[in-house]
Amino acid sequence: SRTVARGADGVVTVGGLDVRTLAADHGTPAYLLDEDDFRTRARAWRDAFGTDADVYYAGKAFLSKAVVRWLHEEGLNLDVCSQGELAVALAAGMPAERIALHGNNKSSDELEHAVKVGVGHIVVDSYQEIDRLAAIAAGQGVRQPVLIRITVGVEAHTHEFIATAHEDQKFGLSLSGGAAAEAVRQVLARPSLELRGIHSHIGSQIFDMAGFEVAARRVVGLLSEVRDEHGVELPEIDLGGGLGIAYTSEDDPREPAEIAAALAEIVRRECAAAELRAPRLSVEPGRAIVGPTAFTLYEVGTVKPLEGLRTYVSVDGGMSDNIRTALYDAEYSVALVSRASDAEPMLVRVVGKHCESGDIVVRDAFLPADLAPGDLIAVPATGAYCRSMASNYNHALKPPVVAVRDGAARVIVRRETEEDLLRLDIG
Ligand code: LLP
Repeated sequence: SRTVARGADGVVTVGGLDVRTLAADHGTPAYLLDEDDFRTRARAWRDAFGTDADVYYAGKAFLSKAVVRWLHEEGLNLDVCSQGELAVALAAGMPAERIALHGNNKSSDELEHAVKVGVGHIVVDSYQEIDRLAAIAAGQGVRQPVLIRITVGVEAHTHEFIATAHEDQKFGLSLSGGAAAEAVRQVLARPSLELRGIHSHIGSQIFDMAGFEVAARRVVGLLSEVRDEHGVELPEIDLGGGLGIAYTSEDDPREPAEIAAALAEIVRRECAAAELRAPRLSVEPGRAIVGPTAFTLYEVGTVKPLEGLRTYVSVDGGMSDNIRTALYDAEYSVALVSRASDAEPMLVRVVGKHCESGDIVVRDAFLPADLAPGDLIAVPATGAYCRSMASNYNHALKPPVVAVRDGAARVIVRRETEEDLLRLDIG
């Protein structure tokens, strides 16, 4: 992140603070989040899309009350996909009308609650949900704004588990199969629902703009079909999130301004060709805002050379604080941050302390050959989908998130304690 620097003594500082001090004060593992970097990235998205568009931060990447306040202050909206995320958003004072609710199987309770608090829109994902939500809104005597999540049928070039716009997966209503058009009919026929527009999310950790461009074209294509069939011009489209970030030096991410310009141009061109009024655009970046802003600080516990293979470096966390390597074959880098070293680089695998050999944080990396227990190492770009997917496997205690700004550190999510674990275990 922006304010991470390495001093002459080889010690890394973040926001002006020495990682050794941070480790002593907050323990390890810990996620260290650079608040200025977060705010700068949030603003870059908002400014790139301008006043004719809305940026909804995808809370699933990482959500806490502090983050919600920063987003509110920086003029972003929020995408939540569960009642828990909604609770955090409301507790931190995000106005309900700036929140969108997602999910392929929202419960009736979640829908009831979202309608009651007045979320800005709900993205519907099935015929059953259209029925359910229409009844709930009618019961509360309100007209609920909705978008319809469609599947545009593009193959996003990313890991299978996080691609979402090909036909054979659980999200959305198929454009080519006609389910999307049928959903439009069903929503328009419900007086308690107000159809605001169409939503598409093609997947995550994507670098190639072509997928977004095809999605934008197909979404506008549906708007024009809706106009022809129903005489209604839908006022909004949401093209989801998914922009990739650099986990290693191999990745070359696009800037928000680039994606904003490309999407705006396609929407403008396609709308002009179809003689449609250009709809209001929204996007839902999660990873691209929070991912690069944090790194995980670990303490080295053991260093075990395997002759002719590599050296296994065990840290005090693992798959419970970063499941992405095990789950998606995600690639990370790692660096020694608590001192300088002139030692030769050695091939390492950074592993955790969990009871399985798949517990890998960084599969292949180089660290100085004099690495020793007590050294601090950092894994960058762990702001997204690490704390939010953390688990208590082996009764691990989830690490804290420490926000650093202007030379001051503030715990925004505290470390779990044994009492936290035992409180839920009621015997
Ligand atoms: N909008 C919708 C409807 C989504 O489903 C997602 C992510 C986003 C926006 C935000 O996508 P982003 O900009 O963060 O890529 N756990 C996986 C990622 C799952 C993404 C799920 N949906 C990972 O660690 O890579």
